[in-house]
Amino acid sequence: MRLVSVFMLTGALFLTVSVEEQTARAADGTSDARNGRTVFQTNCASCHGESGKGDGPTGAYLSVPPADLTSEDVRNDSDSELLSEISNGIPDKGMPAWKSLLSAQEIRDVLAYIRTLSETVK
Ligand code: HEC
Repeated sequence: MRLVSVFMLTGALFLTVSVEEQTARAADGTSDARNGRTVFQTNCASCHGESGKGDGPTGAYLSVPPADLTSEDVRNDSDSELLSEISNGIPDKGMPAWKSLLSAQEIRDVLAYIRTLSETVK
């Protein structure tokens, strides 16, 4: 009986800590590239490719090829420019708007992940 309540207490503590961590993360505007990787692979890789180079399988069918997210152009874009492009999309070029599909946190996370993609080609 005592053992069970110790377990429950530990569980509750753990839960509280992780919820607080999440809230803190969202509130101070920081991002998590690891979560961004999941967001990217689920939503973006089909067009932009696993490595972000714009060579995803669906991208091949678009009239405007998806951007190479490791390019110098994108590297030199500010966070706010890219956040806006991801949120609002680029309708005339076939880049979807993500703001109604992803949370603001997920959009920041995916941008953090995109930044890590170009680190490897620098
Ligand atoms: C249906 C295919 C498709 C999907 C899915 C897609 N994109 Fe795009 N994306 C595009 C196209 C097409 C462009 C425009 C390329 C151009 O301007 O030459 C683009 C452009 C961009 C740009 C602008 C790059 C620049 O040059 O400034 C960013 C950033 C971007 N996408 C990020 C994302 C992210 C993040 C996701 C996932 C949440 C995503 N895209 C999902 C097709 C896609």
